[in-house]
Amino acid sequence: MTVPKLLENKTALVLGVANKRSIAWAIANRFHEAGARLAITYQDERLRDKVEPLVEGISDCLLIQCDLTKPEEIEETFAKIDSEFDGLDILVHSVAFALKDELEGRFSDTSPEGFQVAHNVSSYTLTSTARAARPLMEKKGGGSILAMTYYGSTRVIPHYNVMGVAKASLEASIRYLASDFGEFNIRVNGLSPGPLNTLAARGITGFPKMLKYVAEHSPLRKNTELDEVADTAMFMASDLARGITGEIIHIDGGYHIVGM
Ligand SMILES: NC(=O)c1ccc[n+]([C@@H]2O[C@H](COP(=O)([O-])OP(=O)(O)OC[C@H]3O[C@@H](n4cnc5c(N)ncnc54)[C@H](O)[C@@H]3O)[C@@H](O)[C@H]2O)c1
Repeated sequence: MTVPKLLENKTALVLGVANKRSIAWAIANRFHEAGARLAITYQDERLRDKVEPLVEGISDCLLIQCDLTKPEEIEETFAKIDSEFDGLDILVHSVAFALKDELEGRFSDTSPEGFQVAHNVSSYTLTSTARAARPLMEKKGGGSILAMTYYGSTRVIPHYNVMGVAKASLEASIRYLASDFGEFNIRVNGLSPGPLNTLAARGITGFPKMLKYVAEHSPLRKNTELDEVADTAMFMASDLARGITGEIIHIDGGYHIVGM
């Protein structure tokens, strides 16, 4: 497929590339193909060797280390983007984390620390980065913010536990931010892919079973592919989606509509 140049003359910041399987990387790559100028962040030094070779083929790509739990790193990141790009059109939040122990056993045993960490990293960082992006997007006359969520926010998924509750918080944040930022022509939406075999997903107990179950029971009888998420992100980031905000788009072969 030839990728349409839907994002020509746009600048995009994609948060959360860990390796070549990351949803963030699939999206960043598609944005590049669609003509956007890119900046990408990775969490810490440990990931640098995985991420640096990925961006080598992308001319002009800004690569920034940013731990989103550190306010000073968010501030530095957006200052750098502003000085290089003079504004920002697109922000993608593709970041989540929960302590390993919280993704097994009973949800009712969630520790205060586990609850706080999951919500801080997986939900609050959307608000802190959206707030930092707003003045840069205002310079461009508007923008599109996208965050990755999952169906465990509204339905109980075995072992997803506190991450499901954090995703519910993320989705509520998407709606509140969409309402806050609408007057600046900034749209805020969520993408909800079906299970994909990434680093984060492998932390969930029984993940291979989830993949098999969805492939057998979704209306399209298949698992979600990274390309499908990237294509939807390209559309949502583009002016074609200018009327859509506060929405959660499922890219799950229709799995979320099935009752039995
Ligand atoms: N893989 C799936 O099945 C699936 C399904 C639906 C939604 N999602 C969501 O997609 C998003 C991306 O996950 P992924 O599956 O691509 O896995 P991934 O492991 O490739 O990406 C998660 C990213 O979060 C980053 N991160 C964690 N803590 C951070 C911090 N403090 N500061 C900065 N970055 C931090 C990690 O470094 C990593 O790059 C997550 O929000 C995830 O919940 C994943």
